[in-house]
Amino acid sequence: MTAIDTESEAPNLEGNTALVAASSSGLGKAAATSLAEAGANVVLNGRDEDRLQAAVEDVDAVGPGEVVGRAADLTDGDAVAGLVEATAERFGGVDHLVLNTGDPTSGGLFDVNEDDWYHAFDLLVMSAVRLVRESAEYLTDGAGSIVAITSITVRQPVPDLVLSSCVRMAVLGLVKTMSRELAPAVRANAVLPGPVETPALRNIVEDAVERGEYDTYEEGLASYWPDDIPTGGVAQPDELGDVVAFLASPAASYVNGASLLVDGGVVRSV
Ligand SMILES: NC(=O)c1ccc[n+]([C@@H]2O[C@H](COP(=O)([O-])OP(=O)(O)OC[C@H]3O[C@@H](n4cnc5c(N)ncnc54)[C@H](OP(=O)(O)O)[C@@H]3O)[C@@H](O)[C@H]2O)c1
Repeated sequence: MTAIDTESEAPNLEGNTALVAASSSGLGKAAATSLAEAGANVVLNGRDEDRLQAAVEDVDAVGPGEVVGRAADLTDGDAVAGLVEATAERFGGVDHLVLNTGDPTSGGLFDVNEDDWYHAFDLLVMSAVRLVRESAEYLTDGAGSIVAITSITVRQPVPDLVLSSCVRMAVLGLVKTMSRELAPAVRANAVLPGPVETPALRNIVEDAVERGEYDTYEEGLASYWPDDIPTGGVAQPDELGDVVAFLASPAASYVNGASLLVDGGVVRSV
C-alpha cells in the first residue's frame, strides 16, 4: 500500500499583500500567520496598540514577507479608510482581504437589547462593507481574494448566540454578492468555524471555572460545547488559519462564493 504523504504543500503567496482585519489575536492572528507562512506581506489590525505590536512580532517571525500593524476600530469608517490607505501606501495595493471582527454581544433573544442588535450589525456587517468598499480598487487590480471569517451559527443557530446566528447571515449574502460583482478579478469565500481554542474562548471557559461551573479548565473546555465533535475536540487556531490561506491562494482558483465549514463535523445538516 502506498503511504499517504501528510506533508501538504503550503500555498505560495510571495510578493502578495494581505490585509487581515481584527488580527491581533485568535482566528484573525491565525489567518495572518498562515498567510505570512505562505510568504505574503501582511498587515495586522486591532484596536489595542500593545496587543497589536506583540502580534506583529509573532507573525513577523514566521515568513519572508514584511509584517506591519495598523490600529483601527472597524466600527469607525474613517479608521477603516485609513487602514486600507496605509496598506496600499506601504505595499502598493491589497491582494487579499480577510474580513474578521470581535464577538457580538452574546445571549439569547431576550438577553440582548436593541442597541446590541445595531452594534452587531455595525461590527459584523458594516465593518466588512467598509473594508470591501475601500479596498475594492486594489483587489480588482490583480487576482484578488476575499475570505470572510464567520461562524457555524449561520448554518445552525447556537443557544445564547442570537446575534451571531442572525446578523452573520448578512455577511454570507455579502460574500455571495461579491463573488459575482467582483468576479473575475476577485474570488470571495467564507469560512464557518466551529469552536476554536482562541483567547476569547479560553476566557469564557476560565470565567466558567471561576464561577464554579467546572472544576478544571479541561473539564470546562470539554463540556462547554453541547454537541459532540467528531474530530475529537475544539480546534486550534492554525487549523482555521491554514484554510483561510488556502482559499486566498491560487490553489483555490475555482472556489468562489463558497461557505466552508471548518467545524470538525459539528454541524449535522448536509
Ligand atoms: N473562537 C471561536 O471558537 C469562534 C468560532 C466561530 C466564530 N468566531 C468568531 O470569530 C471572530 C474572532 O474570534 P476570536 O475567538 O479570534 O476572538 P479574539 O481572540 O478575542 O480576537 C478578536 C480580535 O478582534 C479584534 N477586534 C475586536 N473588536 C475590534 C474592532 N472593533 N476593531 C478592530 N479590531 C477588533 C481584537 O483586538 P482588540 O480587542 O485590540 O481590538 C482581536 O484582535 C469573532 O467574531 C468570533 O465571534 C469565533
